[in-house]
Amino acid sequence: MVAGRVVSDAPIAIFDSGVGGLTVMAAIAKRLPQERLVYLGDTARLPYGTKSAETVTRYAVQAARALMRFEPKMIVVACNTVSAVALPVLTAAYAPIPVVGVVEPGARAAVAASRSGVIAVIATEGTVRGGAYVRAIHALKPDAQIVQRACPLFVALAEEGWLSGPVPELASEQYLKDLFASGNAPDALVLGCTHFPLLAAPIARAVGAGVVLVDSAETTAIEVERLLTERNQRRDAAAAAPKFLGTDAPERFARVGSLFLGARIEPAQVELVDLTP
Ligand code: DGL
Repeated sequence: MVAGRVVSDAPIAIFDSGVGGLTVMAAIAKRLPQERLVYLGDTARLPYGTKSAETVTRYAVQAARALMRFEPKMIVVACNTVSAVALPVLTAAYAPIPVVGVVEPGARAAVAASRSGVIAVIATEGTVRGGAYVRAIHALKPDAQIVQRACPLFVALAEEGWLSGPVPELASEQYLKDLFASGNAPDALVLGCTHFPLLAAPIARAVGAGVVLVDSAETTAIEVERLLTERNQRRDAAAAAPKFLGTDAPERFARVGSLFLGARIEPAQVELVDLTP
């Protein structure tokens, strides 16, 4: 152990509207394998992306509250829609526990990736409507030109495991081709939704070579590591098994979640919880 480092055995609590946020959990687990991770997917109420900011905020507060029994040292909001609309409410409610969202790290990665300053953001309707990515990118690069598009069908395709073949190819072309056809086309595309990295291949083909796809999972994991280090809260012990909580059908959580996590989840590992007060 490094001298002066405080060992914090408390877990990092991660939540999402469903299993999509397991891509963020995978990035955190890869970067910080010694940390204890607890993941909650509100699978019974997915999607959040088509719901109002008020409803999403209420659901997010309920999810965070359910995770408090684990006494986490940090909350990671692995959902773009929640990060876009509810982060200030969660931050105020759970201070001094830090609440990390995925929008700001994604915006930082996009600004770093774009040479032209023309950046496209694809996300759910809720994230696009709230404009959080536009604000976060402009805060870092005020002269950035940003185009946004809601691609709600990608969520359903990823949930079904339809990651290749004619349907995702056609959906990607239909949603994206025209955005990248103009003379002033973006050179970076933010995958501003947990589910979209799984469709990176058809998306990349639709937007063409030379466009960098930005996935916020990795940059969020870097931010988690930075904060833990700054707060002397790194866990310095052997890796612990992750814990999974879902609000519906553990079998489906395990089957679809394994795709997102990139590792097998057994239904018996998923605890069923009820978030309604
Ligand atoms: N987790 C959501 C997000 O990243 C996508 C799924 C949903 O709409 O709930 O925006």
